[in-house]
Amino acid sequence: WDHRCVPVTPLSTPDRSAYLLAARGEPVPHTPVWFMRQAGRALPEYRAVREGTTMLESCMRPDLVVEITLQPVRRYGVDAAIFFSDIVTPLQFAGYDIEIKPGIGPVSADPIRDAVGVAAVRPVTAADVPFTTEAIQQLVSELGGTPLIGFAGAPFTLASYLVEGGPSKDFAKTKAMMHGQPDLWHALADRLADVAIAFLSVQVEAGASAIQLFDSWAGGLSPRDYERFVQPHSAKVFEAMKEYGVPRVHFGVNTGELLGLMSEAGADVVGVDWRVPLDEAVRRITAAGGAPKPVQGNLDPALLFTGWETIEPEIDRILAEGKAAPGHIFNLGHGVPPNADPEVLRRITQYVQTKSAHVPA
Ligand code: CP3
Repeated sequence: WDHRCVPVTPLSTPDRSAYLLAARGEPVPHTPVWFMRQAGRALPEYRAVREGTTMLESCMRPDLVVEITLQPVRRYGVDAAIFFSDIVTPLQFAGYDIEIKPGIGPVSADPIRDAVGVAAVRPVTAADVPFTTEAIQQLVSELGGTPLIGFAGAPFTLASYLVEGGPSKDFAKTKAMMHGQPDLWHALADRLADVAIAFLSVQVEAGASAIQLFDSWAGGLSPRDYERFVQPHSAKVFEAMKEYGVPRVHFGVNTGELLGLMSEAGADVVGVDWRVPLDEAVRRITAAGGAPKPVQGNLDPALLFTGWETIEPEIDRILAEGKAAPGHIFNLGHGVPPNADPEVLRRITQYVQTKSAHVPA
């Protein structure tokens, strides 16, 4: 595909931004770039404003959410902002007892094992989260032409924290529930789909330009289990969000074997980690006969810790492979590590934007 040139004019709304054009598979002024988990501990200004405030408290304060969301936009000049929150915060807003432990992740003292546990999961409504609506409205006005991405955790990845009680490598308890108590599993996943729909809807209604559904840990599943136990629930989320008309992005780590199924769940844009080259990802997405879709990715975050002489040819390779798709949003293959050097991320952003720009003859 020829990611063709369009004139560069200052934008007051995100509609013609490089990110949204690429997500819609339209010609772009340059390949847009942003980084998953771009707000966070890699930034000294983040560590400064977060000092003495828990993650949950921060997410309930519009002033902090606005500031933290804007920090990477200012520092890196990325083409999109992502709303500062976490995949488990909607559960917390709804009064569910799950904690985010620094350096560990979401932890639940009372993991879900039965119908009583499932019944405790209820979605938030806009009335529960006035601070979210306020923060997003303010962000959209401050961001001008830069789009704001709303996001939520997909049912499987959220369920993995609730059933395991914390981060897991093998998801043994979650898989035991799927296979041993399928009715309970489907009831839980259905409720978590409603949580995602509710939180995404609040974000889009407040002005978010796109949504990304994170199924970060889906790569732990076989295609067969994914298709039976997970895809219908993620599909419910994408189907419910269709009416808003915003691009719907789907991402998970280690999902090389699942790219076709995750695309079919209803994604408009498929996120790819570093294990599969983008041109091969397009082949997998279209293997079952589906239309080619824009892709997002996929620089290995580990390469941030090598030298520029390693990073630059990798970016060139990824930009070339991205041409196999009708649109390419440059990103890392997973989130920014907390010890990444912000200067490297700034250089990558500028390099992608400059290198991919069509210079008028
Ligand atoms: O900049 C952004 O990307 C927006 C903010 C964001 C956070 N979490 C903030 C956060 C987003 C999009 C997430 C999503 C998220 N949370 C995912 C999906 C993306 C992915 O990385 O796969 C997952 C699996 C989680 C669960 C989670 N929450 C983890 C694994 C952690 C890290 C634990 C740690 O401390 O290393 C968290 C906590 C968290 N979420 C932090 C931030 C900035 C760190 C907490 C802190 O700074 O005190």
